[in-house]
Amino acid sequence: MTAPSPGDGRTEPGSSSGATSGASAAGGGPRIGPGAHILVCGGAGFIGSCYVRDVLARRDGTRITVLDKLTYAGDRANLAPVETDPGMAARFAFVVGDIADPTAVDPLVAAADAVVDFAAESHVDRSILDPSAFLVTGVVGVRVLLEAVRRQTELARAGERRHADGRQMGAPRFLQVSTDEVYGSVEEGSSREGDVLAPRSPYAAAKAAGDLLVGAYRTTHDLDVLVTRGANTYGPHQHPEKLIPLVATNAIDGAPIPLYGDGLQRRDWLHVTDHAAAIDLVLRRGDPGAVYNIPGGNERANREVVAAILARLGRPWSLVRSVPDRPGHDRRYAMDGGRLAALGWRASVPFADGLAGTVDWYRANEAWWRAAKDAAWDDYYARQYADRLAASTEAPAPGALAGGAAGEEAPGTAR
Ligand code: NAD
Ligand code: DAU
Repeated sequence: MTAPSPGDGRTEPGSSSGATSGASAAGGGPRIGPGAHILVCGGAGFIGSCYVRDVLARRDGTRITVLDKLTYAGDRANLAPVETDPGMAARFAFVVGDIADPTAVDPLVAAADAVVDFAAESHVDRSILDPSAFLVTGVVGVRVLLEAVRRQTELARAGERRHADGRQMGAPRFLQVSTDEVYGSVEEGSSREGDVLAPRSPYAAAKAAGDLLVGAYRTTHDLDVLVTRGANTYGPHQHPEKLIPLVATNAIDGAPIPLYGDGLQRRDWLHVTDHAAAIDLVLRRGDPGAVYNIPGGNERANREVVAAILARLGRPWSLVRSVPDRPGHDRRYAMDGGRLAALGWRASVPFADGLAGTVDWYRANEAWWRAAKDAAWDDYYARQYADRLAASTEAPAPGALAGGAAGEEAPGTAR
């Protein structure tokens, strides 16, 4: 099955009938300009909160309302820099609610020039333990958002969508934040936006379903929609369930570090500020109906990444334990970023600098991640790791595998 539009759908700029207010699509200018009101769903999480902090810090008149359910992964403290700054706080509102709840969603979409959907259950391992919440948020939630956007688009087309002061509003633009995982495991080469979707975990399947729904609403209702597919993202404020913060925080505590399988799975790492900036560029300048890959340009084996974190913290490799692999573990992700580059984007954070800064942030912000490692975390950790760690073996040091394994580098050499 080939992904339908917006899997490979590219329409010419300006072809959408849904011009947004705060936008001037004509002449290649931004579709969402300064002064726009953006609804950010999932804005208390890792990437969403970075997006909110960075966009409001530009002080260009953009207003943001966050809608977030505050699941275990959502933390309003991530937005403290915004909420404690009078200038930014004046342009910011926070609503606790669920994207799968139309009563929460509809009035917020009605007031927005654009919607950016970061909301998701985002951890592959949890989707293997229990996928239900992944599907509710990733499928029903995306459908609720798209229905609200459809209604507002129809009102705008009828000339009946208005600001509180009576001025006419254009149709809202909708951007779905998706992932490279929808392409499945990519043994060689790199995925392009029109490639077949082949998700292999319940998490990735829920994300792919969201992408397909967005495409269906583009085809059926001609909505002004976009999809971004980002690579493995890292940086401050990431929940300690994910590889880099898990390794950093366990290493700080001198606790065992679980490395799945042979640790030679490869990921392409993208700093969170680069991911947020790329999403904002696509929101403002992307072609209606298009999908944009966001690669990081930093492909590394997991073992290399773990070794670099340990080197930064001055902790020994002997903390690392080889544990039974994640079921269905994708071996490699890699994406072609030509379409995004044509919009004028390139990643700006070198991996060595970004990783060092991230590790230093976890060392300096123990209160933040210790709060996330609460009683519910202990339950999760026991479910996910107790048996694996009991069955674990010593992990061969990086470089010790035959031939150093393709592309593997010595500890601490992440560039
Ligand atoms: P995260 O788990 O840190 O944050 C998710 C946020 O969504 C949380 O604040 C949570 O409270 C909120 N949320 C969850 N369900 C909700 C619901 N039903 N209604 C409203 N809010 C809800 O996730 P993240 O790592 O910041 O990822 C954000 C998005 O980016 C996700 O869609 C994810 O699939 C995608 N993505 C993540 C990465 C990555 O490496 N982290 C890479 C590519 C794409
Ligand atoms: O590629 C984008 C995706 O990146 C996002 O869509 C997901 O939301 C995000 O969680 C991430 O998925 P991964 O499964 O790649 O990330 P995670 O941090 O869970 O794992 C990274 C790699 O490290 C993966 O190969 C599994 C491995 N790993 C992970 C954990 C948590 C381990 O070896 N041990 C671990 O304990």
